[in-house]
Amino acid sequence: MTIKQSTERPSMSEDKVSDVEVHSFVQPSGQYPSARLPARSILVTGASGFLGANLLHDLLAGTAGNIFCLVRGSTEADGLLKVRSALQSQQLWSNVFQGRTGIVIGNLARPMLGMSQTAFDFLANEIDTIYHIAAHVNLLLPYRALHGTNVCGTQELLHLAMTGRPKRFHHVSSVAALGWPLPDEVSSSSERFRLSRPSSFTDGYSESKWAAEQLVNAAFEKGLAASIYRPGLITGHSITGVSNPQDSFSLLIKACTQIGLAPEVPSSIRFTPVDFVSRFILELSEQASSPGRAFHLIGPSSLSWRAIAQILLECGHIKDIVPYADWERHAYVVAKNMPDSFEATIAVLPHILDLGTGNEDSAGPLGKHPATGPSGSSCEQAKKLANLYVTYLSSVA
Ligand SMILES: NC(=O)c1ccc[n+]([C@@H]2O[C@H](COP(=O)([O-])OP(=O)(O)OC[C@H]3O[C@@H](n4cnc5c(N)ncnc54)[C@H](OP(=O)(O)O)[C@@H]3O)[C@@H](O)[C@H]2O)c1
Repeated sequence: MTIKQSTERPSMSEDKVSDVEVHSFVQPSGQYPSARLPARSILVTGASGFLGANLLHDLLAGTAGNIFCLVRGSTEADGLLKVRSALQSQQLWSNVFQGRTGIVIGNLARPMLGMSQTAFDFLANEIDTIYHIAAHVNLLLPYRALHGTNVCGTQELLHLAMTGRPKRFHHVSSVAALGWPLPDEVSSSSERFRLSRPSSFTDGYSESKWAAEQLVNAAFEKGLAASIYRPGLITGHSITGVSNPQDSFSLLIKACTQIGLAPEVPSSIRFTPVDFVSRFILELSEQASSPGRAFHLIGPSSLSWRAIAQILLECGHIKDIVPYADWERHAYVVAKNMPDSFEATIAVLPHILDLGTGNEDSAGPLGKHPATGPSGSSCEQAKKLANLYVTYLSSVA
């Protein structure tokens, strides 16, 4: 299938979350029927990304359905290469997957997902399950820069979901949508599907994830069988250690190794390995009771930043652990000779490390909360994961 991308701009206002529009959804006549389980024809967004590649791998390995990936690119071959490279670079590719993935060239930030009417109608009538994983993930950009992909893109995809064949819609959000500071009880008992507007957000990304959820909620109220998954910080794979080089934990480790020092801060990091997140989304999405439910996916293993810095020291990646103010001074000196993004990374570190609270049980936006996830994990497991991640990140540095 070859699909041309549209160049028109999105119609939604980019200014305010309150501008979120829901009127463009197709109003189903009467009850909107839910797709039958198991899924037969699946559309995945974000398959070229970190979580998306893992979920695509699990779908290819665990289901017999047809799988289509919505990918940005100029040609189908280009899109296929992108998805395949994402799986290969994360050590997830197997030759048995060859020929099992259909590529749909599209762009969430464009009206009708950047597709022709023919392509849109084809998908609307073919697909019975959507896993919406794609997003512009960036903690530094303002809401208006993320609105097109994260908010309008979700709206366009919901429109697709509610056109043609009945579908189930699995929306990957984030605990960031709960606002900041995170409510005390981000646990399975507080997995509210409908979120009221939090009193504050730390960044435009969190706000865009909240706004997208409002749209999913509105579609659910109109009958769409939608479920929401809210992971915390998604960390590297629990077996291979393959990590997203752009996530806040990886950037922090990279900054420390480049400076040769780690800051002394009373924080801890909660690990939620990407393969756990993917597996949980898949398992939960296959339950008949998942529509209308939200699931928090936050791993049980957390480790103090001090222990992680000690691992860096013992492995020879840094020379010392110093007070935060000293570390920051050194960091800005090093940043002068680095790309702009390095300075930007340093600027968000206090937020990542939650320097405001001085509380070791708090882990910034990343995890001071009990887990919905695999049980039986411990500090030992967290140490193992930290070692695995440090080894992987230093091998690709
Ligand atoms: N990473 C975390 O710690 C974390 C935590 C909680 C929730 N989440 C959520 O989990 C999901 C996946 O995150 P991730 O870390 O895997 O992100 P990622 O690695 O940055 O991947 C993002 C994916 O979205 C695609 N995408 C971005 N803009 C698009 C557009 N306009 N049209 C079509 N596709 C577009 C990217 O495609 P290209 O290859 O074309 O760029 C890529 O495949 C996101 O919804 C995120 O909000 C992530």
